[in-house]
Amino acid sequence: MNNKNNKANNILNNKTSKQSKDKKENKKENKKVILQLNNVYKTYYLGQVPNNALDGVNLEIYEGEILVILGPSGSGKTTLLNVLSGLDRPTSGDIIYIKKYNIAKYSEAKITKFRKEHLGFIFQTYNLLEHLNVKENIIVGQKLGKSKVDIDEIINVVGLSQHKKKYMHELSGGEQQRVSIARAIAKRPDIMFADEPTGALDEKTGKKVLKTLVDINKKYNTTMIIVTHNPGIAELADRVIHVNSGKIDKLIINDIKVDPKDITWG
Ligand SMILES: Nc1ncnc2c1ncn2[C@@H]1O[C@H](COP(=O)(O)OP(=O)(O)OP(=O)(O)O)[C@@H](O)[C@H]1O
Ligand SMILES: [Mg+2]
Repeated sequence: MNNKNNKANNILNNKTSKQSKDKKENKKENKKVILQLNNVYKTYYLGQVPNNALDGVNLEIYEGEILVILGPSGSGKTTLLNVLSGLDRPTSGDIIYIKKYNIAKYSEAKITKFRKEHLGFIFQTYNLLEHLNVKENIIVGQKLGKSKVDIDEIINVVGLSQHKKKYMHELSGGEQQRVSIARAIAKRPDIMFADEPTGALDEKTGKKVLKTLVDINKKYNTTMIIVTHNPGIAELADRVIHVNSGKIDKLIINDIKVDPKDITWG
């Protein structure tokens, strides 16, 4: 090979290695921000005394991640979840959906429509309809959205195929929680919010419910935001934030995610 060719090869090699480096960095940066909080405050007044339940929170949530929010009682977890999901409005600051829409500035009607179309909720009290069976309860959820999901597939993902025809009083707590998850997922929300989804459940049932959430995250790439008191649940997350006095005081990225059945139940 002559010198000229060598030089050309070197340039080519350099270019290739630079390209692959760029690619890697891109991959890191390619995580799409689905929700972004900029300098968010939520202030309550006790008489004249202000209490910042959220005290200048900045946070980016990535599409398809599982984010767990931990923190002591009264630290602002539920407030954060409610503000993120448009159930509550911040006193100031912006909440930007897919880098475009500032939902903090939406009217009541617009935020209700937004929640209906894009977000799913799992509450500790399951809010299921007693006079409907499992499948019918899930269909109610599907009707809230526009997606034409396969209900039987969802029933399968949450592990309730054998209980399709049962009414709510014929199910265990964990099974009811899984119906409520199926109902929330049936409209294929972009983001699913869960406040203490296993709070009322024992370890075995709780782990089954968590497995359901992880399975849904894998299958549909649904972004999951889970508030919990149970530090063990943090082990299955992509990222964990610790809230303290209305501020995020720690953000942890998990290199290894633990299978729900193997987490430390706290
Ligand atoms: N509607 C309200 N009016 C006044 N203060 C409130 C209101 N909601 C919450 N707060 C206060 O805001 C702070 C954060 O409350 P939040 O419910 O977010 O805590 P949390 O971290 O979810 O607690 P827990 O783990 O007990 O559920 C607390 O000091 C609480 O007293
Ligand atoms: Mg709470």
